[in-house]
Amino acid sequence: MIRRPRRLRNYQAMRELVAETSLRPTDLILPMFVAEGITRPREIPSMPGVYQHNFDSLKRVAYEALDAGIRCVDLFGVPRVKDAIGSGAWDEKGILNRGIAVLREEFGNDLMVMADTCLDEFTDHGHCGVLETDNFGTSVVANDATLKHYQQMAVAQAQAGAHIVSPSGMMDGQVLAIRNALDTAGFTEVAIMAYSAKYASAFFGPFRDAVGSSLTGDRRTYQQDPANFKESLLEVDLDIEEGADFVMVKPAMPYLDVLSAVAQRVTVPVAAYQVSGEYAMIEAAGRNGWIDRDAAMMESVLGIKRAGADQILTYFATDIARKL
Ligand code: PBG
Repeated sequence: MIRRPRRLRNYQAMRELVAETSLRPTDLILPMFVAEGITRPREIPSMPGVYQHNFDSLKRVAYEALDAGIRCVDLFGVPRVKDAIGSGAWDEKGILNRGIAVLREEFGNDLMVMADTCLDEFTDHGHCGVLETDNFGTSVVANDATLKHYQQMAVAQAQAGAHIVSPSGMMDGQVLAIRNALDTAGFTEVAIMAYSAKYASAFFGPFRDAVGSSLTGDRRTYQQDPANFKESLLEVDLDIEEGADFVMVKPAMPYLDVLSAVAQRVTVPVAAYQVSGEYAMIEAAGRNGWIDRDAAMMESVLGIKRAGADQILTYFATDIARKL
C-alpha cells in the first residue's frame, strides 16, 4: 500500500478542513501616508494603489480598513519642510502628529493608531538620525544624540493620541530611551512596537518615493547586513530587555528564516512588515499580466503568517481583509 497524502487535497472542503494556517483581518496592519498641504490624495508612482493622503482621504481609507475588520493602522508623515535635525517630528503641529490626532479623534479606541517613530521623513539629509562629524572628519549618524530626538518624538506622538509608537531607526538603546521618556511623561499605557530586526534592504526603494526621501547613500551603518542571522536574535533579545511590547522583522519575504526563529524564541507578539518593494513587485507583475495578482497577494501574506508572524504590516491589508 502506498501512503496517499493526496486524499486530503481532493475537495475544497477537505482542504479547508486540514488547513493549518489562516488569515484573519485582525492579523493585518495597514501602513498609511499623510502628506502636508495636498488638496487631493496623490498616488505613489512606484506603489500603484497606495496614496499620500490629506486628512479627509486619510479618514476615509481608515474607515475602509476598519469596516474590513482591521484594527490597526501605521501612520507615516510627509512634511513640506525638512531640516537637519528633523524638528517637524516632535512639533505638535507637524504633519505626522496632526494626522495621529485626526485619527484618534475620529476613531477613539476602535482603531489602534500606530506611528512611525523615526526621523528620516523629517531630515533634509534623509537619515534616520542626526549627523555628527567624528574625530577624523567623517560624517556619521550619531546614536545617542538621535535618541534624545526619538524621545521627544515619541512623547509628541503619545500626546497626539498614538496607541503604539514604532521606532524604526535601528539606533542602539532606542526602545529603552523611548520607554523611559513615555513613562516619565505619564504615557505608561502607550505600547512600543520595535523594528528589532530591520535589514538594509533594496526592497525599501518605493517607500523612499512614498515619503519623498532626500537620502543619498545608504543606511548600512545602522540597518543590518542581509548576510546576518544571529545578529537579529541579539537585536530582538535587546529590544525585549529594553521593554518592547512587540518585536518586528522587516522586510518579510527575504527574511522568513529570521521571522521563524524569532517567533519560536520570544513570548511577545511578533510582527513582520511586507515592505514597499514586496508590494511593488506583486503589483507590477500583476498589472503586466505576468502573475495572478490576487493569488500572489494572498499567498505571500499567508506565507508570512505561516512562518510565524502574529501581525503583518502590508499595503494589501484592506484588500486582503475584504476577501476573508
Ligand atoms: C524608516 C522606515 C522605512 C520603512 C519604514 N520605516 C524606510 C527605510 O528604512 O529606509 C520602509 C517601509 C517600506 O519599504 O514599505 N522610517
